[in-house]
Amino acid sequence: MAPLFTNNKELKTFVVDEGHGVKGLFELKIETLPELFIQPTERRLDMTKVVHHESIPVIDMSNPKDPEVMKMIWDAAENWGFFQVVNHGVPVKALDDVKDATKRFFSLRAYEKKKYLYKNCPTKNVRLVMSFIPEVDKAYEWKDYLSCFYVSDDEAFAYWPPVCRDQLLKYMKESEPLIKTLLKVLITRLGVSRLDETNEPLLMGSRRMNLNYYPICPNPELTVGVGSHSDVSTLTILLQDETGGLYVRKLNSDNWVHVPPIKGSLTINIGDALQIMSNGRYKSIEHHVVANAHENRISVPLFVNPRPSDVIGPLPQVIARGETALYKHVLYSDYVKHFYKKSHNGKDTIDFARV
Ligand code: OGA
Ligand code: NI
Repeated sequence: MAPLFTNNKELKTFVVDEGHGVKGLFELKIETLPELFIQPTERRLDMTKVVHHESIPVIDMSNPKDPEVMKMIWDAAENWGFFQVVNHGVPVKALDDVKDATKRFFSLRAYEKKKYLYKNCPTKNVRLVMSFIPEVDKAYEWKDYLSCFYVSDDEAFAYWPPVCRDQLLKYMKESEPLIKTLLKVLITRLGVSRLDETNEPLLMGSRRMNLNYYPICPNPELTVGVGSHSDVSTLTILLQDETGGLYVRKLNSDNWVHVPPIKGSLTINIGDALQIMSNGRYKSIEHHVVANAHENRISVPLFVNPRPSDVIGPLPQVIARGETALYKHVLYSDYVKHFYKKSHNGKDTIDFARV
């Protein structure tokens, strides 16, 4: 069979500009991975580095004030940077509705999805993207995503896609108690006694929600779903479906562990902003999603962030204890801009703030 696309330009036009997405390529039933998606070996996950006898902590959040639970959260944030929570209080219906909403959005026809491409969208706060940064990525990632930055309910009603808007907003609201509980526990250890109006905006003053769609891939071993990266958030609350494929780096090692889907659970990870604010006590860990030959996968990370206008740096309470600052103070929007300027490349984003 003659190739469907004679060059990368035609392929990018189909995938990106026409709004078909990577999902559209899958729907063409292509039998081999186009060269554009072939990642250099060092960017793929080396399966020989995956350890099977270890896993990230699973924490029951029924009694978050229990000192043992608090200790589990601290230990997880310091030693893994990643953990799963069960009995977290976010209604299962809200989780199921967000997953359905994600599927609905990606089932839209290309001409409807195309309206949400950055260049076509009347707001900068909603954008449909293929790969990670299609203008910059040399090798594409096997993924489409819709990114929604929350400004206000009114803005969301005006611009977020109607097929998923209400479910995303509901989930965002219903996950707020969990976010506050986790932040309260985490800052206690840093010598900050309360989450209040003085620190809440810095820790959780803005939100971004991404809807990730990883279509079935003809040659998963040659590409990635998401390349290795750490998140720029304070905390990320990740909802994943039952497919699996998320791997996290084990602290200070060359090994990776799988994050097995647990029904009803949420995966929590520390982001760069909290690593910086905690002066390195809490770890923003590299993670990576593999492509899958048999199943489409969806996931929905909710990034809990400082406000773009905030200056982030090691918290004064941490420095007051006598620690030497490992990070500079940087404007959060500059930090985020730096992240979105380059393809995923492990943990190098944080160098931007290193002393
Ligand atoms: C991300 C991410 C993980 C996943 O979008 O930042 O790491 O499981 N996603 O999709
Ligand atoms: Ni991530």
